Amino acid sequence: MKLEIDQQRLLAELETLASFSDAEPPAVTRIVFTATDLKARAWVISRCEEAGLTVRQDAIGNIFARWSGADPAAPAVGTGSHIDAIPNAGKYDGVVGVLGGLEAIRALKRSDFRPRNSLELLVFATEEPTRFGIGCLGSRLLSGTLSADAAGHLADRDGKSLDEVRKKAGLNGNLQGVKLPKGYYKAFLELHIEQGPLLERAQTSLGIVTRIAAPASLRISIEGAGGHAGGVLMPDRKDALCAAAELILAVENAARSSGAPDTVATVGVCEVFPGAVNSIPSRVHLTLDIRDTDQARRNDVMQEIERASQDLAARRQVSIQDELLNADAPADCAAEVRAALSDSCRQRGFSFLEMVSRAYHDSLFISRIAPTGMLFIPCRNGYSHRPDEYAAPGDMARGVLVLAEALARLSA
Ligand code: GLV
Ligand code: MN
Ligand code: MN
Repeated sequence: MKLEIDQQRLLAELETLASFSDAEPPAVTRIVFTATDLKARAWVISRCEEAGLTVRQDAIGNIFARWSGADPAAPAVGTGSHIDAIPNAGKYDGVVGVLGGLEAIRALKRSDFRPRNSLELLVFATEEPTRFGIGCLGSRLLSGTLSADAAGHLADRDGKSLDEVRKKAGLNGNLQGVKLPKGYYKAFLELHIEQGPLLERAQTSLGIVTRIAAPASLRISIEGAGGHAGGVLMPDRKDALCAAAELILAVENAARSSGAPDTVATVGVCEVFPGAVNSIPSRVHLTLDIRDTDQARRNDVMQEIERASQDLAARRQVSIQDELLNADAPADCAAEVRAALSDSCRQRGFSFLEMVSRAYHDSLFISRIAPTGMLFIPCRNGYSHRPDEYAAPGDMARGVLVLAEALARLSA
């Protein structure tokens, strides 16, 4: 099999996809089911059709593009990632796995390889939590991790439900039908940028993921008492933002004192009401993101945050309510998928690192229904979720080549 990756075409497609954005370049903002995202999705579908793949979408907007194998009834081998992007993001997160997965399939088609199992590109819907508060909605539904009813009722900031939004986007089917039948995939593989600095530091351009860390997130509402910034004296205050400040530091402290480098916690959203310079903040909304490779240790950190929050609520006489958005288990990558990747690396003489994914991915949920693996490529300085995210063309091409070979091994 002679495989050639069309690096120029991949780069050109990456630039085109980055142009579907609601931010000034080089930043990319592509929130799921906005007009911009819908245009990007239509463009990706057109690329898949142009490659001769058979495309279908499910009711939440997961896009499946299939190259039928010699045994079309056999379980498919899947690859893919997402194209939605958080506000002020870069061009590579998710996109490398979608356009790289498409180029891997095209390269296999151009070679003399013919798969026994069908090969399928999967573009997951709503991987980022920006719009509906929870990430990986497409893969949660595909794997049966989230019920159709709970998903349909999730709402965005404007109070529009996922059901309303997806139907407006022309996705009218029943969410119950999204769950994949047992044995749908023989194996699944996701190519992604590392989103951390380890590959670059090790001067290695490929990472084979062994385990995906366990994410959790919470929404916290702090209710104090507002009032005039001049008139209310300090002893009489119940300032919700001061309470939030203490809580944010308690979150940082809980993660730092877990004693493990794998424990991380972030408060990425802080909304202050009423948000006027001369008004005492009466209400604050925070969102917390807590992760660890060890689920029990992550849960201990969450309990520590809960204790700190109760303590400061009593001390500052504010009320603190929390809503658990998700608390997922970690995942182990499957030995056979890792072996397909490492066999290809060894045969090609490419060095690789075995590593943990500290970011979450749709693979976390697909691993519950199929043997799953992930292949990482470096991103400059480990930067991701920021406009200067960058992956070198040579690293992308090498990643796509190893992906293509692993797909061929798994589908032969
Ligand atoms: C995915 O975008 C993550 O936040 O890990
Ligand atoms: Mn992301
Ligand atoms: Mn991603």
